[in-house]
Amino acid sequence: MRLILLGPPGSGKGTQAQRLVHRHGIVQLSTGEMLRAAVAAGTPVGLQAKEIMANGGLVPDEVVVGIIADRIEEPDAKKGFILDGFPRTVPQAEALDDLLRKKHLKLDAVVELRVNESALLARVEKRAEETRARGEEVRLDDTPEVLTKRLAQYRSLTEPLIHYYSERRKLLTVDGMMTIEHVTREINRILTALGALEPKDHEEH
Ligand code: AP5
Repeated sequence: MRLILLGPPGSGKGTQAQRLVHRHGIVQLSTGEMLRAAVAAGTPVGLQAKEIMANGGLVPDEVVVGIIADRIEEPDAKKGFILDGFPRTVPQAEALDDLLRKKHLKLDAVVELRVNESALLARVEKRAEETRARGEEVRLDDTPEVLTKRLAQYRSLTEPLIHYYSERRKLLTVDGMMTIEHVTREINRILTALGALEPKDHEEH
């Protein structure tokens, strides 16, 4: 199964990717997580990305495309993957199409998680509070100011992907305002209907 989770910051992409990965034994490819790891390790990519991410901007397309191109070559991605946070621009989507075409691989679906803005803000604030309460470091971009910028980037650069994948008949929209469990169930239902999952895979969810 090869799946893209698309949605604004805080819509539940990471949460759902983890649940699907756990259930179906495929890998989650989160460009946000990979970039945060690069920042923490102080690699050249991390040094380039740090300030951009802290300000809610997007890391250059060629950087993230390079990361994904390398990552999907790794053995654990052979069985399938869930892309969480990639692609985020039309050029990234085109680059992904090229990568998959060269490898004769097909994308099963693009699931868009739709969540209203006030809920996104509440979720991101809650996540920051919970992280603080655990004594862990809060993401630099989890502030109301930076979230506003991330949302603006989403609207101008990422939302065009809804049209991009809808035209290619890959887009499926899920109400991301439901509970976490309901969203998972709905995604599993959709994937089963597409034939990407065996019926038994979603019965328990
Ligand atoms: P990234 O890490 O991808 O962040 P994001 O897209 O802004 O998404 P979040 O991680 O904030 O939210 P999410 O949708 O995963 O929601 P989550 O499951 O965590 O990117 C960070 C930065 O890296 C970017 O701004 C950019 O700078 C850079 N970057 C990354 N990819 C890039 C790319 N391709 N190109 C260029 N730059 C790139 O949930 C959020 C909270 O809500 C959690 O606390 C969760 O428990 C809760 N929650 C989830 N679902 C529900 C629900 N249904 N009901 C109630 N609460 C819920």
